[in-house]
Amino acid sequence: MSQQHENTNRSLGETIEEIMNRRMSRRDLIKGAVGVTSAAMLGALGLRATNVTAAPTSALRFTPVTPTAPTFDDVVVPEGYYARTLIRWGEPLSVRAPAHNVWEQTPQAQAEQVGYNCDFVGFLPLPFGSNVSDHGLLFISHEYTNPELMFPNYDFNAPTRNQVDVELAAHGVSVVEIRRAYDGSWSYVRDSQYNRRITGETPIRISGPAAGHEWLKTSEDPTGTVVRGTLNNCSGGKTPWGTVLTAEENFHQYFGNLSKLDSSDPRVAVHKRYGIPAETTELQWEAFHARFDVAQEPNEVFRFGWMVEVDPYDPTFTPVKRTALGRFRHEAATIGIAKKGQVVAYSGDDQQFEYIYKFITKGTYNAKDRKANIGILDEGTLYVAKFNDDGSGVWMPLVYGQGPLTAANGFHSQADVLINTRKAADLLGATKMDRPEDIEPNPVNKKIYIALTNNSARGTEGKPGVDAANPRAKNRTGHVIELTEAGDDYASLTFTWEMLLLCGLPSDESTYFAGYDKSKVSPIACPDNVTFDNAGNLWISTDGAANAIKYNDGFFVVPVSGKERGHVQQFFSSVAGSEVCGPEFTPDNRTVFLAIQHPGEGGTFESPISTWPDRVGLPRPSVLTIQAFDSRVIGS
Ligand code: FEO
Ligand code: CA
Ligand code: CA
Repeated sequence: MSQQHENTNRSLGETIEEIMNRRMSRRDLIKGAVGVTSAAMLGALGLRATNVTAAPTSALRFTPVTPTAPTFDDVVVPEGYYARTLIRWGEPLSVRAPAHNVWEQTPQAQAEQVGYNCDFVGFLPLPFGSNVSDHGLLFISHEYTNPELMFPNYDFNAPTRNQVDVELAAHGVSVVEIRRAYDGSWSYVRDSQYNRRITGETPIRISGPAAGHEWLKTSEDPTGTVVRGTLNNCSGGKTPWGTVLTAEENFHQYFGNLSKLDSSDPRVAVHKRYGIPAETTELQWEAFHARFDVAQEPNEVFRFGWMVEVDPYDPTFTPVKRTALGRFRHEAATIGIAKKGQVVAYSGDDQQFEYIYKFITKGTYNAKDRKANIGILDEGTLYVAKFNDDGSGVWMPLVYGQGPLTAANGFHSQADVLINTRKAADLLGATKMDRPEDIEPNPVNKKIYIALTNNSARGTEGKPGVDAANPRAKNRTGHVIELTEAGDDYASLTFTWEMLLLCGLPSDESTYFAGYDKSKVSPIACPDNVTFDNAGNLWISTDGAANAIKYNDGFFVVPVSGKERGHVQQFFSSVAGSEVCGPEFTPDNRTVFLAIQHPGEGGTFESPISTWPDRVGLPRPSVLTIQAFDSRVIGS
């Protein structure tokens, strides 16, 4: 038994099964003991589920791959499938853009080439509104840079201006047109009119309630409505009107020298709540750009940490930061349309003990006029989640003037609430989660799946202890919660929730796979990005398995209905030092795109631990495609 396990359930004197059973009986009391409705609950009681759902059958028939050791530097797919690299860091996105040359990198060249560390991948069919699976736009976000892998002889103590500016240009987003040929092979269109880079320097509009706020004004932008760039674009979500929401996640790390700001300044407490570094940052961009120095430009950091809307179908579109969705370390934002037509966006704040949010628009979705929806995310209500131990939950409004969100607590407007979303959520007593990553509605069963990647600080000294929604102390392997909105309506303000997976090695007693036979599941740790196939199966990519369970990260599928519910099967294993992102299916489910982020992290340019995918020189973050040799639906 591991130290970790001794410190988890044993400290409660209960096994996970006992906790689930105990919670079951509480729920039965609440529901009058008549409503045993989910396979997870049956599973927790060791019962077989039948007729649980009318969803299409999962029909998964591939042989799961064997996990690989963290030093193993190749991708693995099931028998009958093949993986190909579609596009890599540095590939030119126009005819005039130069081929990538690691020895002669410039910000100008990088701004016309694919950025670094691909995370979110969205496939948008061409033309808009079609359902084609062989032609479309690929929207790729570039979360961060690894200068030690990008540049020869990089010195963390003395980065150069050129290196810093190349890194700024390697952040952001790439939009690229792609096609599948008759032989099945995918390639990108170098001279496409749609190809576009958005970088850490691209002008971006700020809209919604916080636009123009005093704290969003800087010496460069006295209006508080236009900002240079988007940073740390992690995951995201596609909207039904064909735009993409890209998330600014760990934006705090680019802004240094908070300790030089006068401690009586009211902005200091807000910056501290968001983790702005007290001294020099690791990347030291502030040495060359005053806007990253909080002592010189105390407000620039307020202009980051938002959801950014981009229209990939319009290369001239100015991206927009939608402040109504709140400011925090957004992992993503994913969309469901409520029964009455409101647009609902789910979003997590990815840090230990942070919260889960959703935003409900005031207006309703217009399916007939896509452009009419651009702006709908500027008006509405932001909510934060409270998970009760009895399996119920409530969405609490973050509205200025309601409850504690008043001048007595430093809030003078809705803009104040949005700029300091974290404090507002603190005051409402929201549930502190184990690092919320992707949160996404399953279009087949309308339930929402929440990846909580890990939280090694849970239950440690001075930190919050376990609760039913975060039931393991020193949670290194993460879990997945299944949330059901009341009436299956995304606009509902109450919900119920179930534990779907407590990840880890199946031999670890603290794991739980919706009651499925543990001897038949693949080991999985640190769930990060999720998507669904057309049958409603949940697909999960991971980030951090190498640390947590000593295997490379991968891509997994788990049915969420029927007797296969909880049967986690590994479909893909990644390369040394990488995490797996995307993931994204074509509409026909016959291709899946995966982003292989930071391959070879842990090595350096001079001493690489990975050479994927080129097998010469340095590793390159890349998007790959996986298809079957006989073109069957992935996993079938
Ligand atoms: Fe960028 Fe939360 O992963
Ligand atoms: Ca992520
Ligand atoms: Ca991640």
